[in-house]
Amino acid sequence: MTDISENTKTLGAVDVVIMAAGKGTRMNSKRPKVLHLLAGRALVQHVVDTAAQLSVRQVVVITGNGATEVEAALAHSAELGSGFKMDFVRQEPQLGTGHAVQQALPVLRDDGIVVVLSGDVPLIRADTLQHLIAACGGSRLALLTIDCADPTGYGRIVRQGEVVQAIVEQKDATDQQRAISEVYSGIMALPATHLKTWLARLDPQNAQGEYYLTDIVKFAVADGVPVVAHQITDPLQVAGVNSPLQLAELERAYQGRTALQLMAQGVRLADPARFDVRGQLHCAQDVFVDVNCVFAGLVTLGEGVTIGANCVISNAAIAAGAVIHPFTHIEGGKPGTQDFIEVGAGALVGPFARLRPGARLGAEVHVGNFVEVKNSTLARGAKANHLAYLGDATLGERVNYGAGSITANYDGAFKHRTVIEADAHIGSNCVLVAPVTIGAGATVGGGSTITKDTPPAALSVARARQVSIANWKRPTK
Ligand code: UD1
Ligand code: CA
Repeated sequence: MTDISENTKTLGAVDVVIMAAGKGTRMNSKRPKVLHLLAGRALVQHVVDTAAQLSVRQVVVITGNGATEVEAALAHSAELGSGFKMDFVRQEPQLGTGHAVQQALPVLRDDGIVVVLSGDVPLIRADTLQHLIAACGGSRLALLTIDCADPTGYGRIVRQGEVVQAIVEQKDATDQQRAISEVYSGIMALPATHLKTWLARLDPQNAQGEYYLTDIVKFAVADGVPVVAHQITDPLQVAGVNSPLQLAELERAYQGRTALQLMAQGVRLADPARFDVRGQLHCAQDVFVDVNCVFAGLVTLGEGVTIGANCVISNAAIAAGAVIHPFTHIEGGKPGTQDFIEVGAGALVGPFARLRPGARLGAEVHVGNFVEVKNSTLARGAKANHLAYLGDATLGERVNYGAGSITANYDGAFKHRTVIEADAHIGSNCVLVAPVTIGAGATVGGGSTITKDTPPAALSVARARQVSIANWKRPTK
């Protein structure tokens, strides 16, 4: 692969055109087709991200159907300063793939190699594109092709001997041509200068009355420009999404590959078919993940971490030896912000726990069933084992937070902090009305509503005294 990228550097600049104007009728959805999600990312976002892995100079996205939404969805990629310039070009109306690429010409430079991609073919890989660019070599028309058991619907690669002569669309093909199993993937690379002259020669005289990008192959042959087919064998890379069924199939195939890669690194998955990564999952050694877990955003699992069945985890770093019991929901905010979640080494979380943005659990912390933690720090060894709420709280080491206790952190207008210092013991069913501080080693009696700071080491009880009436007679009928 190093060789290939070395080569492409010397070939000159690479500019990418992504066609994303089509309607996607068969998705039967109000959402533009290229914005449907695969592994948590829009189809066209996959394509942009892959383009970003090549050293590209420019990415031009052609939009049409749902243009405003598509452009808005990609706006952050355009701003990221990913090292390339991103342009949006509108195609109105949509008169075919050749017409689509024509719209990009005004913003394309003459000195580059143009790679044409489809916004609905999400799993194309950067190394494949690098090979295609090398096959173009700055002078040839390079087509990405694949041999298909069922070529129905695709453009066929027509050869004379070994030499590629044309791409013929399904609807224009003769029976003999329909028998050809080598098909065009929708992806090509060629010099911008050739693209510009050939696109000017397109006409819509064909079965669909469209401007076919694929017609430029004929012009290359007529002009004596070599046409090379770079054939791959991996159907996933060129699989297009046209229907909800195809999207689901591609999702499963993608998840299956992710699962295989993780297992190859030593991660144990109870069932690779019941496992979803919608972002990035990084695992140290000896991680075990039980069935039906979903990972989103950026998640890192330290050595020996165990994730129980049916957990949903996004944007969290879970340190070595921690155990996340079944049915736990961990929902962190963006990496690099205060909202990203941290779970310390050896911590026990769940079952049925909920960690919300800004939960930071130290080592050996226990958060048990039906406990909700938001924007709170629990220092080493702190425990909240049952039915509790910790919002905007800071807990010192070894604090014990009783069942049914809550921090009343919101006064209707502002959020306030609760500080519980080391070794404090909060009984069951307490309400800590913030802002309030519980001193180190203090005890709060069960059922207390605490509105004032409590001194260290003291017992604070804030509830009505118990009254017992002797020989009480219950009413009788
Ligand atoms: C195209 C190829 C076919 C190839 C197949 C691979 C042509 C004429 N045919 O056919 O040889 O085998 O891809 O998947 O190119 N689009 C626009 N504007 C348009 C029309 C399409 O932006 O006016 C976009 C679509 O959104 C899509 C891509 O171009 O992302 C491909 O269009 P589609 O209509 O799916 O082409 P196919 O008929 O599949
Ligand atoms: Ca298609």
